[in-house]
Amino acid sequence: MRRTLVVGNWKMNGSKEANADLVAGIVSEAGNVANADMAICAPFVYLSDVANAVNDTNISVGSQDVSVHLEGAYTGEISASMLLDCSCKYAIIGHSERRQYHGESNLLVAQKALTAYKSGLIPIICLGESLEERESGQVEVIIGEQLQAVQSVMGADAIAKSVIAYEPVWAIGTGLTATPEQAQDVHGFIRSRLGTDAEKVSILYGGSVKSANAAELFAQKDIDGALVGGASLNAQEFIGIAAAG
Ligand code: PGA
Repeated sequence: MRRTLVVGNWKMNGSKEANADLVAGIVSEAGNVANADMAICAPFVYLSDVANAVNDTNISVGSQDVSVHLEGAYTGEISASMLLDCSCKYAIIGHSERRQYHGESNLLVAQKALTAYKSGLIPIICLGESLEERESGQVEVIIGEQLQAVQSVMGADAIAKSVIAYEPVWAIGTGLTATPEQAQDVHGFIRSRLGTDAEKVSILYGGSVKSANAAELFAQKDIDGALVGGASLNAQEFIGIAAAG
């Protein structure tokens, strides 16, 4: 049985002061969440603060990216071992904003996921199609290619211990959520491609998830939780989503 996982992706938002309030709000309500695990993926510079604030709670910490390199002369990069040093359990890999604004290819995403996994982090590997790709009937082709790259580089054993997030690009930050049926169709497709370990892998949905639509998404057979952007910046909303798990 896969346990629901609700992950907040703060993106490039927050400040020391605002984060302290937000995490305190989440921690104070975390006791109301019985059926889901929670994680917060904060900007790199705040990871240690957030990790200290959620210590001894049922909330884990993750990063929003990781370097493909292990160490060395890579100015500005953050390695997997540094993330472990800051108490990270998860690393979001290949978010569509990294693919779109930082030119991350399917191959680089797959290599980053392997680096994260081998270092001891749990990669949250993001897949998703654009509106144009959906409207031209390319959803399974695009998702299939993104997933295939990860499968060839990581192998089935590593993917079985990772998390996948399906995030249709047209639903991210737009208020347009995929319908539960649209999301389930793609989640079912992804699971059908995962082979013998398919039932072990948690597949999260992301794209305008809020407390008002979480329960109907989580009711779908192959939706195992959510990757939450905007709504994760509000403690009540984030807890409301996790409580629907
Ligand atoms: P959103 O973002 O919830 O604001 O749509 C989701 C994400 O980008 O992970």
